Amino acid sequence: MQKVIIEGPTSLKGEINISGSKNASLPIMISTVLAKGSCLIGNVPNLRDTRFLVSILQDLGCKVDFQKNVFAVHSSSISKKSADYEYVRQMRASIVLLGPVIARYKKFKIALPGGCSIGTRGIDLHLEALKKMGVKLSIRNGYVHAERRNEKLSAIKHSFSKISVGATQNILMASTLAKGKSVLKNCAIEPEVIDLIKFLTECGAKIKVKDRTLTIQGVDELNLHNHEVIPDRVEAGSYILATMASKGKITLNNINIDDLAFPLEVYQSMGLKIKQLNPSSYEFSCSNLKSLKKIKTKEFPGYPTDLQAQLIASLLKVGQKSKITENIFENRFIHIPELRRFGAQLDIDGNTVVVNKTNDLFGAEVMATDIRASFSLIIAAIISKGTTTINRIYHLDRGYEDFDLKLKKCGVNIKRKK
Ligand code: UD1
Repeated sequence: MQKVIIEGPTSLKGEINISGSKNASLPIMISTVLAKGSCLIGNVPNLRDTRFLVSILQDLGCKVDFQKNVFAVHSSSISKKSADYEYVRQMRASIVLLGPVIARYKKFKIALPGGCSIGTRGIDLHLEALKKMGVKLSIRNGYVHAERRNEKLSAIKHSFSKISVGATQNILMASTLAKGKSVLKNCAIEPEVIDLIKFLTECGAKIKVKDRTLTIQGVDELNLHNHEVIPDRVEAGSYILATMASKGKITLNNINIDDLAFPLEVYQSMGLKIKQLNPSSYEFSCSNLKSLKKIKTKEFPGYPTDLQAQLIASLLKVGQKSKITENIFENRFIHIPELRRFGAQLDIDGNTVVVNKTNDLFGAEVMATDIRASFSLIIAAIISKGTTTINRIYHLDRGYEDFDLKLKKCGVNIKRKK
C-alpha cells in the first residue's frame, strides 16, 4: 500500500490550481443514466472515486470513458440491471444510482451500502421517498430490489425528515422523469446539489429552487448536454487551513469564493487574510492564527462536516482552547487518535472535540482513515517537527487530485512511496 513521507515543519507558500468538485462530479456522472444522447462533462477530477464510478457505469453497460478530466458519455443505456456489492461496498455514493435508474428502467437491484468509518449512514430517507413514488422495494440477500409499479414513477409531495445530500440528489433525479409535479421539502442545497440541478436543467429537466424546496415538473425524456463541474470547495478549504496552520501564503486558482462564504468568515475571525487577484484567483495568508471559541458543523450554508478534521488540525498549536462539534455524522472523530500520535492535546466530550494548546508536535507514523481525516494528518505533519509517515493514502487519492504534487509545489517536503 502506498504511503507518503513528510518532513516538517514547513510553511505553505506558492500557487495551487483547485480541481473540479468530486462531490459534484459523482452525482452528475450518475445522472447521465437518466438521459439519452451523448455529452462531455469537463473539470472532473482524476481521482480514485471518479475512475471507480466510470468502471461501475461501464459494468452496467454504459458507453463512457474518462480522459484528461473529461468524462465522455457516448451512450448512457444500461444493459445490466444490478449494481454489485463489490462496487457499492467501495463507493457509497453509488446508492444514488437507484433513483435515476428506476426512473428510466423498470427493475434494478443494488447492494446495500452498509456503514462506513464516519457513521452508519442509513438509506432510509432514499427508500421512503422512492416507495411513495411507486417503487416496490424489498431487501434480500444484502440487496435492495426495486421495481417500478407503473409505466412512470409518480410525482410526490414530500418533506425529508432530515437534510441529506444523497437522498436529495437521488429523489431529485428520480422526479425529473416522474409523472406530474413533485414538491420536495427540507432538501440539501449544497453547491454540489445546485450543480446537479444546473446539469439536469441543461438536459431539459424542469426544476425550481426556493430556499430548501425543490419543485420538479416531470418530463418525458432528457437529452444529455455538455457541462463543466464546479470547483471543489472542500479541496480549496483544506489548502486554506493548511496555509493558516503553517502561517503561510498561497494563491488558489479556479475557486468559487461564494461556495466557501461561511467557512471563510470563520477563518477570517481566526486571522486569515484574503486578497482577490482576479474573479477566480485569491491569495490567502495568515501570520497570526487565533483560536475559535466554538463551532458546529451544519448543512450548507453552515460549516461543512467535510472541513471539520482539517480545522481541528489547523488549531493544534493555537494558544487558547477551541471547541468543535460534529452534528452531521455520529462517528466522525476517527482522526483524533491519529492526531494524538503527533502529541496533540485533544479531548472528546460526546460529539465535541476540545483542542488544547500543544507547544510541540512531533512527526509520527499514522494511518489515513477517511478522505478528510487524512488531510488533517497532512496538516499535522506540515506543522510538526521531524518525519511523518502517512500510511494507506488511497483515502487521499479518493478525494484530492495530485495532492502530493500540489503540496510539493508549495514547498512541502513530501515523497510518495510504494
Ligand atoms: C454528507 C454531507 C456532505 C458531505 C458527505 C461526505 C451534509 C448534510 N452532508 O453527505 O456535505 O460531502 O457527507 O462527507 O453535510 N442519513 C440518514 N438516512 C438517510 C440518509 C442520510 O439517516 O437515508 C443521515 C446520515 O447518516 C447523516 C446525515 O443524514 O447523519 C447526512 O447524510 P447525507 O447528507 O445523506 O450524507 P452524504 O450524502 O454522504
